[in-house]
Amino acid sequence: MTPGQPDKQRDKNMERRKKIIITIDGWSSCGKSTLAKQLAKELDYVYIDSGAMYRAITLYFLRNHVDWTKSAAVEKALANISLEFISNEKSGQAEIYLNGENVEYVIRDLVVAEKVSDVAAVKAVREFAVHQQQQMGKKKGIVMDGRDIGTVVFPKAELKIFMTADNAIRVERRFKELFVKNPNITLDEVKNNLEMRDYIDSHREVSPLRQAEDAIVLDNSHLTMKQQLDIAMDWVRERLH
Ligand code: DC
Repeated sequence: MTPGQPDKQRDKNMERRKKIIITIDGWSSCGKSTLAKQLAKELDYVYIDSGAMYRAITLYFLRNHVDWTKSAAVEKALANISLEFISNEKSGQAEIYLNGENVEYVIRDLVVAEKVSDVAAVKAVREFAVHQQQQMGKKKGIVMDGRDIGTVVFPKAELKIFMTADNAIRVERRFKELFVKNPNITLDEVKNNLEMRDYIDSHREVSPLRQAEDAIVLDNSHLTMKQQLDIAMDWVRERLH
């Protein structure tokens, strides 16, 4: 540490030197990706949206009429799926590509959301995605959000955050997000979809959503974006120093 260096500069230098893995798990629509993007930007880390991978696989299955209850059909389909995250030059955010096609936006549709939890519960699908996620974390310096990132994908991650927020607030947030693209959507549809996904995600046999024992809970129901980032950055600094 150089004496006399201002705190902020000193923090920046520390953050540049040591790289850690940050995992953010939690319920649907509680702001995991917002916090993950904030942290990745602040630390100059890679952000990976693991849910986008399950959504892209679901999109492929739906488009190609793959019956995900049949293991042979799933194996065959997975062999034809290539997923990549490529940075969008304008936004600086990584976007997901399915076999060379940018599907970042189409995977957010309710049609995909209605099936993604079922597809994500298939063992072969999880093995396919988890293997790729672990490869992405090899060099550390990564923030990944999802449901099993701190428990299964990176059980040794230096910082594990488990996010939560009040149900009504989560429904409202997701509704606002989807309404922009689809003004016909109803609050009830969004509420039912969230409840269904939370139930399937936390009750499935393979890697269900649960809080890792060493995860820190962040309830952001009544926090501003700045407040949630400040809290999480304090946890990051504790691990970098
Ligand atoms: O984070 P999201 O809502 O985009 O995730 C979509 C679905 O994918 C979610 O309902 C559960 C599943 N998922 C999962 O099972 N494991 C992950 N690591 C990430 C997402």
